[in-house]
Amino acid sequence: MEVGDMFGLAGQVAVVTGGASGIGAASAEILAAAGAAVVVGDIDGEGAERTAGKITAEGRRAVALRTDTSKRSDVDALVALAVSEFGRLDIMANIAGVGHAQPVVDITEEDFDRLMAINLKGVLFGCQAALQVMIPRKSGSIVNVASTVIDSPYPNQGLYGMTKAGVTFLSQVLAAEAGPHGIRVNVLAPGATPTNFASFRYEDGRIDPEREAAIQQSMSQITPLGFLGDAADQAKMVLFLCSPAARWVSGNIFRVNGGQSRPW
Ligand SMILES: NC(=O)c1ccc[n+]([C@@H]2O[C@H](COP(=O)([O-])OP(=O)(O)OC[C@H]3O[C@@H](n4cnc5c(N)ncnc54)[C@H](O)[C@@H]3O)[C@@H](O)[C@H]2O)c1
Repeated sequence: MEVGDMFGLAGQVAVVTGGASGIGAASAEILAAAGAAVVVGDIDGEGAERTAGKITAEGRRAVALRTDTSKRSDVDALVALAVSEFGRLDIMANIAGVGHAQPVVDITEEDFDRLMAINLKGVLFGCQAALQVMIPRKSGSIVNVASTVIDSPYPNQGLYGMTKAGVTFLSQVLAAEAGPHGIRVNVLAPGATPTNFASFRYEDGRIDPEREAAIQQSMSQITPLGFLGDAADQAKMVLFLCSPAARWVSGNIFRVNGGQSRPW
């Protein structure tokens, strides 16, 4: 096989959640660049349209749908769109997620329900909807996004970490269940990656560029490579995990974090 074919996705169809921004947008773009038709889902419908528009402007195939991944009917509709628009589903990238920082003692039931709904239930719904169409075809690749937090039980990350630990366990169990159907399931665990994700650190959700630059500088210092990667670095791992090159890769966690081994 030519190297280009090993990483090529010609004729394949991908659904990407969280595709309006950051890692999801970069993943939608790289999967399209590798030849896949992409269905971009995000609760930010305009942002999803923007990503799809960027892809189609480059002569590639994409459509967008406003999707709240915490609602099963929305996620089912997203996968149904892949089938109605492009005829099949080969790749499901469950990337939508939100951050959260709070001491465990202060977590309210509302916080718990909101984070679990978006970060864990949304991924479960995405996996289930994808499996419905992948199992009969006996092939497919699912990538779920966790976080470096799964290795770093540091203060204020209790709730966020619980959701991402849940995503990891779900994915590993699913890899065991779906493998016999020819479906691979893997976890991308990103390290600190500059995106809109950082908005959770700010009371009004608006990233303060100066404060954020200082935070990124201090985060890069605990990264052995000495710098922070970007959304495209995460997307390249998504591409690998979905590509023919990864045909024997399943049930594993892939940490893209510059070698970070201690908490920030
Ligand atoms: N950026 C980081 O430092 C980092 C580190 C570890 C893990 N992650 C994970 O990576 C994933 C992508 O984050 P990002 O950095 O690209 O952040 P981002 O904020 O740039 O993108 C997240 C996207 O998810 C969407 N979203 C939020 N709630 C949704 C919902 N209910 N339904 C559909 N879409 C929804 C947002 O609108 C946004 O477009 C998340 O799961 C996040 O937890 C990010």
